[in-house]
Amino acid sequence: MNKPNFKDEMNRRKCKIEYKELNEEIKPALHNKKFFLRTYGCQMNVHDSEQIRYYLEALGMQEVDTLEDSDVVILNTCAVRENAKEKVFGFLGRAKHLKKNKPDLIICICGCLMQEPNEVDEIEKNHKYIDIVLGTHNINEIPNMILDRTLKQNIEVLSNSDVVYENVSYKRDSNITAWVNITYGCNNFCTYCIVPYTRGRERSRKKDCVLKEVQALKDAGYKEITLLGQNVNSYGRDFEDEKYYFANLLEDVAKIGIDRVRFVTSNPWNFTDELIDVIAKYDNVMPYIHLPIQSGSNSILKKMNRGYTVEEYKELFDKIKERVPGVSITTDIIVGFPNETDEDFEATMNIVDYCKYDGAYTFIYSKRVGTPAAKMDDSISQEVKEQRLYKLNELVNKYSLESNKRYVGKEVPVLLMGVSEKDPTKAYGYTDTMKLVNVENGINEIGNIVNVRIEEAKSFSLDGKMVK
Ligand code: SAH
Ligand code: SF4
Ligand code: F3S
Repeated sequence: MNKPNFKDEMNRRKCKIEYKELNEEIKPALHNKKFFLRTYGCQMNVHDSEQIRYYLEALGMQEVDTLEDSDVVILNTCAVRENAKEKVFGFLGRAKHLKKNKPDLIICICGCLMQEPNEVDEIEKNHKYIDIVLGTHNINEIPNMILDRTLKQNIEVLSNSDVVYENVSYKRDSNITAWVNITYGCNNFCTYCIVPYTRGRERSRKKDCVLKEVQALKDAGYKEITLLGQNVNSYGRDFEDEKYYFANLLEDVAKIGIDRVRFVTSNPWNFTDELIDVIAKYDNVMPYIHLPIQSGSNSILKKMNRGYTVEEYKELFDKIKERVPGVSITTDIIVGFPNETDEDFEATMNIVDYCKYDGAYTFIYSKRVGTPAAKMDDSISQEVKEQRLYKLNELVNKYSLESNKRYVGKEVPVLLMGVSEKDPTKAYGYTDTMKLVNVENGINEIGNIVNVRIEEAKSFSLDGKMVK
């Protein structure tokens, strides 16, 4: 499995240990101001928003749930598909309207979409009501930029970053489960994907800093951590003088003894045997792997630059299933990649039949300007793409229901995370295999791992009762 080597670029990486200090002088001016923060996109953005929250609350600002109550609106954007962008601009329309009656409202837009120069140009030209624009590499500028109202429109986006920030503070969404970044950026350059351009080159955090953070989370009573990276398997490949890879890190994290350790995302192309050994060896490394296949056709996988064949994927899949008993595996699939033929699509249906995934996130290919795939001809109609997605979803849902049904009648440990939104008499939580469970009589045990007897299976969740 071959992938390009970015070693030269990575050798230029510097490691910043201290995070940028807040400007003491500006603190009082923001005291008691209200902010509204909306996050789009993946866990990276969710975790970045925890950092934004920390910064703003450290300045004495308070978060509100409604846009209309806010003095500052922050949209943390995603660029991965066109509809992610449409959602952002839809919401901006509401903020623009509010600003007509509330001229002091500050509108700030940050995140992955802002790493695209054409989007920033568009904002400069046609969206003058937006006050602040910043990108993914300078989130720490946010407090100073909010206060700096001398500029009409304050745009500060760094095109790339070779810096790894350590000792970053977060206002975490949960006191039960926590995200821990281990790598930033991506070097895989899948031809459809914008992420390597919005998040920059792959860079690993220092192992001691990661382990210290996990230890601190354990000491603070967290029950679960999830190690985060666009491709966690690449961890450590950029270290110059140390041979310390993801399998080593995962093992050292597991030894700290936090109840549950998870990780996302694992690209199939460098999933090592050592890594499978660690997952199999430690009870607190959860038997759940998100292993995106993207397509079941070798010709499409090649055009996507995914770095593996269907045969290699199947071999890895079988090995994981064999070595990690009871493991659940989910995936990501794109339909309608440029010129995907009926045969290519059938091959994708076949791999789903083969793997019988516990779940899958399915997408219609979305053209992203600046990526290699955007230049490929595409003769497939939108209608055909939608039909393929529909067919694929039916198959995927059939298998996730089947896998969920296997839990009925069993007793399984569930980490209770909170009150169910749909039914406030129930608690919700996750099995070690990442199945969502709604639990009767669980409310008083939120934050704990309890045994639950599963009574009913649906396609996307399980229902059960706590066993005393
Ligand atoms: N780093 C992760 C995924 C990040 S993006 C990984 O490699 O698995 C999450 C998912 O969005 C991808 O797995 C892919 O299925 C989907 N995706 C990315 N770019 C896309 C595009 N241009 N159109 C449609 N789906 C896309
Ligand atoms: Fe995108 Fe591929 Fe990197 Fe995932 S591995 S973020 S799909 S380029
Ligand atoms: Fe994530 Fe979207 Fe950026 S998927 S990395 S927030 S483009």
